[in-house]
Amino acid sequence: MAEFDSRGTFQKAANEYAKIQDAFPDVICEPLLADMAVKEGDRILDLPCGTGDSIVKAMQIAGPSGHALAIDISASMIEEAKEKAEAAGVKNVDFVVEDMDKAQFDTAAYDIVVSANGPFFAADLKTFLAKMWDAVKPGGKLVTMTLGRNFLTPISGIFLDRAQIRTEDLRISTPWNITEDIAYFREVLEEVTRGQRINIIHRDAVMDYQTADGGWNLLMGTAFRNYTLAMSPEHQAEIEAEMKEWMQANRQFSATCSFNNITVVKDNV
Ligand SMILES: C[S@@+](CC[C@H](N)C(=O)[O-])C[C@H]1O[C@@H](n2cnc3c(N)ncnc32)[C@H](O)[C@@H]1O
Repeated sequence: MAEFDSRGTFQKAANEYAKIQDAFPDVICEPLLADMAVKEGDRILDLPCGTGDSIVKAMQIAGPSGHALAIDISASMIEEAKEKAEAAGVKNVDFVVEDMDKAQFDTAAYDIVVSANGPFFAADLKTFLAKMWDAVKPGGKLVTMTLGRNFLTPISGIFLDRAQIRTEDLRISTPWNITEDIAYFREVLEEVTRGQRINIIHRDAVMDYQTADGGWNLLMGTAFRNYTLAMSPEHQAEIEAEMKEWMQANRQFSATCSFNNITVVKDNV
């Protein structure tokens, strides 16, 4: 049985993911930028950066005196990110294809270290958060965003039922579950940041995708893409047709997601 293949998933999903970010800037990018509160000249570390929407906008605020390092394991996500940066005239981001679990960062080097919908992909949550926290300068901040319990409901549940039927050995492994329990995430962060104040904002977002094609794009641009990787092209076509039919028949053109946005500021020493 295959483990969740985050690299393979987002290698395939990059184009759809970029469309989702363009269609729903208020779901990830805008709340993240509000938490980051970027200032001119900021040095920022973004892992994983995905299609770069947040880091490109952040660097427009930080201006030419700022600098960012943005990494992602998927070359196709990084390609999308580079295109966005170029279109926006943003030059001061180093985009690197790398496994965030293996990457090493300078200690106390960044004003902002950010990970949106990334911590749950780390091989070990505590090690990952500790590495991020170590990279934050005194007076700087760690900003994270993770998913709550209802990731793309109701279409995700309908999709997973249908995927399960088509892939006998499909293991419905959902890495984002590890950070869904905010009490657990908080406990790990408290240990890592050694008693710094942890600010948590819980948000619900409704994504009105409007058409069955839009709903399918939402599934295929997110982690749900993983469950089609092992399917035959025939099964993929079948599940796509069934999902679109279900959305039409049920007039279901929106999905709900909840998020936990967490910010921790490091004391100035
Ligand atoms: C849901 S996207 C989030 C991207 C971006 N932070 C955002 O909020 O739009 C998850 C990203 O994690 C990347 N990823 C997963 N595992 C990774 C790893 N071990 N190292 C680096 N990137 C990883 C995927 O390639 C994908 O681009």
